[in-house]
Amino acid sequence: MNKSLYTIAVAVGSLFMATDVNAQNLLPKPQSFKAGKGYFSTSNPTVKIVNEAGTDAENIYTRSWHQSNSASAKQTIKFTKLQNASSPEAYRLHITADSIVVSAASADAFRYAWQTIGQLKTKQGIMACDIDDAPAYKWRSIMLDVSRHFEPISFIKKQIDVMAQYKFNRLHLHLTDAAGWRIEIKRYPLLTRMAAWRPERTWKEWSNNGAKYTMEGSADAHGGYYTQDELRELVAYAAERGITIVPEIEMPGHSAEVMAAYPELSCTHKPYEQMDFCAGSVATYDFLENVLKEVMDIFPSKYIHVGGDEAAKQSWGDCPLCQRKMKELGCDKDGLQANLIAHFGRFLNSYGRQLVGWDEVIAGNLARNTTVMVWRGLEKAHEAIEHGYDVVLSPGAYCYLDAYQDAPLSQPEAIGGYLPLEKVYSYVPGEDLPEAERKMITGIQGNLWAEYIPTPEHMEYMLYPRALAIAEVGWNGTEHKNYADFRRRAIAQCDLLRHQGVNTFDIRREKGERPESVKPTKHKALGCKVIYNRPYSKQYVAGGDQSLVDGIRGGWTYGDKKWQGFIGKDYCLDVTLDLGSQQNLSSVSADFMQAYGAWVFFPEAFKVSVSNDGKNFNEVYSTTSTVDKSIQSGYRTLAWKGHSKARYVRVQGNTIMDGGWLFIDEIVVK
Ligand code: ACM
Repeated sequence: MNKSLYTIAVAVGSLFMATDVNAQNLLPKPQSFKAGKGYFSTSNPTVKIVNEAGTDAENIYTRSWHQSNSASAKQTIKFTKLQNASSPEAYRLHITADSIVVSAASADAFRYAWQTIGQLKTKQGIMACDIDDAPAYKWRSIMLDVSRHFEPISFIKKQIDVMAQYKFNRLHLHLTDAAGWRIEIKRYPLLTRMAAWRPERTWKEWSNNGAKYTMEGSADAHGGYYTQDELRELVAYAAERGITIVPEIEMPGHSAEVMAAYPELSCTHKPYEQMDFCAGSVATYDFLENVLKEVMDIFPSKYIHVGGDEAAKQSWGDCPLCQRKMKELGCDKDGLQANLIAHFGRFLNSYGRQLVGWDEVIAGNLARNTTVMVWRGLEKAHEAIEHGYDVVLSPGAYCYLDAYQDAPLSQPEAIGGYLPLEKVYSYVPGEDLPEAERKMITGIQGNLWAEYIPTPEHMEYMLYPRALAIAEVGWNGTEHKNYADFRRRAIAQCDLLRHQGVNTFDIRREKGERPESVKPTKHKALGCKVIYNRPYSKQYVAGGDQSLVDGIRGGWTYGDKKWQGFIGKDYCLDVTLDLGSQQNLSSVSADFMQAYGAWVFFPEAFKVSVSNDGKNFNEVYSTTSTVDKSIQSGYRTLAWKGHSKARYVRVQGNTIMDGGWLFIDEIVVK
């Protein structure tokens, strides 16, 4: 230890980034914080540096500080190795008016300590305090989807800078998908000469125009890719900031762009016919091994993500090679996928790397060193833990940052859903798992899918402040949750981020949840008997048989368990309310929503009928409307108003969209 002890004096003015965020705004919140007396002044020209921690600490101050020869320093900053640390990322700070002692377990931990010191800076100096800190989860990450919309390296570096500020330690890059292949692979040049370019700038236009590709350099080419040199430089940039880049190469699904460039890798050998690799062909395994070799050469990360999600597997059933392989293995299509993933797990292991995949990969017989990213239900986490895999939680309901973060109609177009800051923050990873399993969770990740995010500014808008909630839960854990306190700190941090040129959503102007859903609605049919002439979908039961008369109205998203879902032809919505006795009626109304990205539509036809015997109905209202596909997100009340006397009320809704959904939250009778 002593051989690395040395003392230098440095110009203190440049020591700390000019955050001026009050110490009460630390984010993520440290595990333990005790305020001290006074401030460590940053207005003195020099401080003495004592480094007892060697290069681990050197990385911090040599990058940030200018050395000075002045010997008159009155203040000291001392770096020491944290002994018996609870985690390699643990650090301690002891700050008084005269000195700062930084104790940390590793180079990364010194970085975290340094970020905290930056956040402790006020106009008077660095706030005196004692901090004892370590992360709740060892994997804290953000996924950026640069396939759906390509973003320049400068944008990714900017996000790495922000992520480092909030103690993230992984950046997952979704580098390949149907909308564009984004990584130079020298052996397969068409991946970036063709599959990285499309005639339309936005994913939406591209998708609506038949999802075709074009050639690099052609007049209509939009998109791009990263060269291997650029990626190597990016990896080094991230590593200097304590962030490991985890590259994702999708297989066997989400690969239409590969099938367009190299159709011989598909079952039919024809472009634009399937999204999936042929899983029975030797060519597929050769190709993916060769790609992964180049990927491993660029990315030193122990973790290599192979996707694995949502393969359609459609062409596999008719493909002689896939059929032969399934016969050989004695398995079905799912088994064929599992076998493919297991193959690449072994392949990565043979190079000292470890496979990461979306939760579909659980099906494979994989090595225990696999990491599963759970994006569907918690049961997937349970399964993964049972297999002994590491689990990173990234469930759609809490971590999909592509959903609307505020009232949809007040926001730029998004894919749908509603995921406000408070909901992200409320996430308790593995809440319903047994304690022993919850302890096994490795980390959490926020996913920014980019289908509806065509610009870098918009990406930042969707990321912040919600990524800060991921950072807080990932670092501080969930035992000391206090949303009001977090929100206040997030506002302060967003002010700082905007000052740094980051385009954040302004949480101060948040409109919040759909007003109708905030308090119960009173009406004549509350609690009455409901007869379902057609069943509601088992996927979207909401409150079950009483849902439409429970007074509980839906919020901005059909996924909030307050909207009941119906699907099918010929009036899939068809319910009769039995009010128990004849009543004077003046209106029957119901709200519907449209979420085009999720194939949810306003009814094309809507009818209200009344009856006194429950058999012979008299139609009192009927309306039709054409389907307007340009409405990405909308809410509509359909209502009969008039005068009638009846015991039974029948409500019917129809959609002509094939496989389309109707969602309704309540039938309000007055
Ligand atoms: C995913 O959302 N398909 C991982």
